[in-house]
Parts: sequence; C-alpha cells; structure tokens
Amino acid sequence: MTPEQFLEFARVLPEPLLMVNSDGQLLAGNQPAATLLGLGRQELKQRMLFDLVTEPTNDLVKYLQACSISRAMVIGTLTIRKNDGQTLVCRSQGAVIQPLSPESSALILLRLENRAIASSNFVLLNKKLDELSKEIQKRKQAETALSKANEELEIRVQERTKALTETLNELQLTQAQLIQAEKMSSLGQMVAGIAHEVNNAINFVYGNLYYAQKYLEELLELIKLYQNHLPNNPPEIKNKIEVMDFDFIIQDCDRIFESMMTGTKRIQEIVLSLRNFSRLDEADIKEVDIHQGIDSTLMILQHRFQSTNERPEIQVIKEYSLIPQITCYSGKLNQVFMNILNNAIDALEDSYKYRYSSANKFPESKNQELTIESLKIKIKTELFDEKSIKISIQDNGLGIDEKVSSKLFDPFFTTKPVGKGTGLGLSISYDIIVKKHGGEISFLSTLEKGTEFVIKIPINCLNQY
Ligand SMILES: Nc1ncnc2c1ncn2[C@@H]1O[C@H](COP(=O)(O)OP(=O)(O)OP(=O)(O)O)[C@@H](O)[C@H]1O
Ligand SMILES: [Mg+2]
Repeated sequence: MTPEQFLEFARVLPEPLLMVNSDGQLLAGNQPAATLLGLGRQELKQRMLFDLVTEPTNDLVKYLQACSISRAMVIGTLTIRKNDGQTLVCRSQGAVIQPLSPESSALILLRLENRAIASSNFVLLNKKLDELSKEIQKRKQAETALSKANEELEIRVQERTKALTETLNELQLTQAQLIQAEKMSSLGQMVAGIAHEVNNAINFVYGNLYYAQKYLEELLELIKLYQNHLPNNPPEIKNKIEVMDFDFIIQDCDRIFESMMTGTKRIQEIVLSLRNFSRLDEADIKEVDIHQGIDSTLMILQHRFQSTNERPEIQVIKEYSLIPQITCYSGKLNQVFMNILNNAIDALEDSYKYRYSSANKFPESKNQELTIESLKIKIKTELFDEKSIKISIQDNGLGIDEKVSSKLFDPFFTTKPVGKGTGLGLSISYDIIVKKHGGEISFLSTLEKGTEFVIKIPINCLNQY
C-alpha cells in the first residue's frame, strides 16, 4: 500500500490515523492525526515518530517492531510533545498493513486516541454500564418480587380454597347431622311415648291377671263345693253344664291364664326394648350391654324382616360372643346399628328384585338355577383385643359397586331413589364411630355376594381422648 492509497481511505475516517514504517518514519496521516500532533498534513511526511513523542527510543522501536509483525492491533501509549511545549498522552493501536520485504521496511497503521477523551468516554461508558446493570438488577428484583408475590398469591388461593372446601364439608356434615338428629329424635320421642302408653296399659292387665286367676280359681272351687253338696241339680243347670263343657273349661282356664301371662310378659319385653332404643336422645356416656342395644334395634326393625308380597322373610342370624360392657354413647350406637341394618335390608330387597322379579321368576318356580339363597343378615360380635370389640353386620345382598365405594361415607351420597334415601346414614354412622368413639368403621363387599360392615369400638371410649 502506498501512502497515497492509505490517505485515500484514511481521509474519510474521523479518527486520527498514521502510516509509519518500522523505522519510525511518518509516511502519511489524515487530518485528525495532523490536528492531534499540531502539524500540517504535508509537514507530517518529513517527520520521524521519535521526534514527536517523549517515549525513550528503545521503547518506541520495540513497540513498532511488535506492531510490524502483528495483524491484530497492538496497544501502546504515546506521549506527544506539542509545539507549544505541552504533552498529550494518547492511546495507540498499531498493526502491520504491509509486511517487511526485501524492497521496503514494514508499513504500520497507527491509530491514536486522546487518552483524556478516551478515558472520559470510558468513564461515560462505565457509568452507562453501571446504570444499565443497576436497571437490570432492579428489573430482576422486580421480577423476583413479582414471581414471589405470585407464588404467595397462589398459596393463599390454595389455602383459601382448602379452607372453604373444609368449611363446606363441615357445613354439609353439620346439616346432615341436624337432619339425622331431628329424624332420630322424633323417632325416639315417638317410640318413648308409645312405650310409655303401652306400658301403662299392660301394667293394668298384668297387675289384674293374678287377681282374675285367683278369683276364678275361688269361683271354680265354690262351684265344686256346690256340686259336692248338692249333687242333684235341676235339669236347667245340668243342661247348661253339658252345653258349656264345664270340665273342659276348668282344664282350659289354666292354659288361658298361662298364655295371657306369657303374652303380657312378651309385651313388657317389647316395651323394655322400645325404651332401650329410645335412649337415642341420650347424650350421656354409659356402660351398656351392646347386645341389648342391637336386640332393641332389631325389635324396632322387626316389621322390616317379615315377608312381604314382594319378597320372603329376612333371616337374622346372631352370633354373639361373650364381650364386656361398653362405655359409650349407647343411643348413638343404636343409631349406627339401625342405619347399617336398614341399609342391609334395602340391599336384600334390591337384590331379590334384581335376581327374581326382573326375570319374573320366583323361588317357588321349579327352575333349578334360580334356587334361592334365603335373604340373610348375620350379626356377629367378638372381642377384638383387650381394649376393643368388633361388631360385624353382614348381608347377602347385591354388594357395592367399586365405582361408588369411595363415596359411601360422604354426606348425601345415595344410590336410592328420591324419597327413599337421603344419603346420610353412613356419614352420620362414620361420625359417631370414628369421631365420637375413636373407633373404626369399614366395609368389605363382593358384587352379587353381599356386604359386611365392620365396626371396631373401644371398650371404654373415654380412654380415647
Ligand atoms: N349393605 C349395603 N349393600 C349395598 N349398598 C349399600 C349398603 N349399605 C350402604 N350401601 C350404599 O351406600 C349408600 C349410602 O348409604 P347411606 O346409609 O349413607 O345412605 P342411604 O341409605 O342411601 O340413605 P339414608 O340412610 O340417609 O336413608 C346407599 O345409597 C347404598 O348405595
Ligand atoms: Mg342408609
């Protein structure tokens, strides 16, 4: 490249550019370079770089040698001695534009930059960079704060949703309990009222039976005395004795009184069961015989076990073991037995309908395949361990579909038609067994075979809390 060619492109550039050879001779320079050095452009050509700067010659030679073999810019510092005696520190960047050849020494492009301006630009740049990084940092902080706030909001929304769901569940359960309590309380009151009235009436009968029997015996004795002392009766009396079959009446009277006595005792037992059951309302913890509770519940449900036009009788099989008295809310437990037994009866009725009515085949039919397995409910009690007992109520109904089994204890879950089931029985029972007694309630079911509800309750529920 010739100095003219160099000037050709350097002229249009705004930065100070010099063309020097490796001996330090200035060959050309553009106007900004001439201005920086305080020389005319033509004057530049005659000068040696060594004369224009204050750096020791050796250092300058070394620098130019480095530039003369490097295609990449070599950075250095040149302190320019100006005409007015002032010095100007410049940053220089130099690189070879034409390497050393046998004909000429290497040609170097030098780019000068006023250090003060450069460093002030540098300071400005640094400041800008600083501001930029601060801005970036601020934005990052804002972003972090935003995502944190988002997360917190999300958590709060989740917590709130959870709390609302819990409240809703609690409300549903409370509502369920209120409905059931109301139902059970009116049933309990009705049963207690009937039991009271029947008890009063039967006490008249029972109380007078003894006297009636005694008076009759005395009257019969009197008749016998008459017969002994006055054997020749007038024909009218003889006739009457024959017609009424006097001897048979004497024999039958005892049996009549005996069966009247058995009947009134039975009524008294029923009344006792009714009273036992109507303890439903009692909120107190009591030591009770669980078997008595189950029996009184069975008594209340007696009418549901009997055969109807639609199905045969339901057999109740009791397998009671020797178990201790239980300290519990007895009325509440009776409520659980009643719910489970009612469900079992419903399941048996449905299963009977499903198996036979749909096919219009009743067990009486001679169809061997349809020989009916009788409708059964088995109630079993046993000691589970030294602290708890187990009660199992098993039916041979249709069983429970797996799809619904997870919802069974949910309030208001029912598969029964409107008006037949409210879906409260099991959720209330769960509450009574698990929450009130610290026990467990679960079920095992096989489709088309039946269902078994298993209750475990502590012998003393007071020890649970
Ligand atoms: N022994 C059982 N065999 C088959 N399904 C049962 C049995 N016990 C309960 N279920 C099912 O569980 C559901 C819920 O029972 P739950 O006692 O809670 O309510 P319900 O009997 O439908 O109504 P309610 O008892 O309030 O009158 C029933 O609708 C029924 O589908
Ligand atoms: Mg029910």
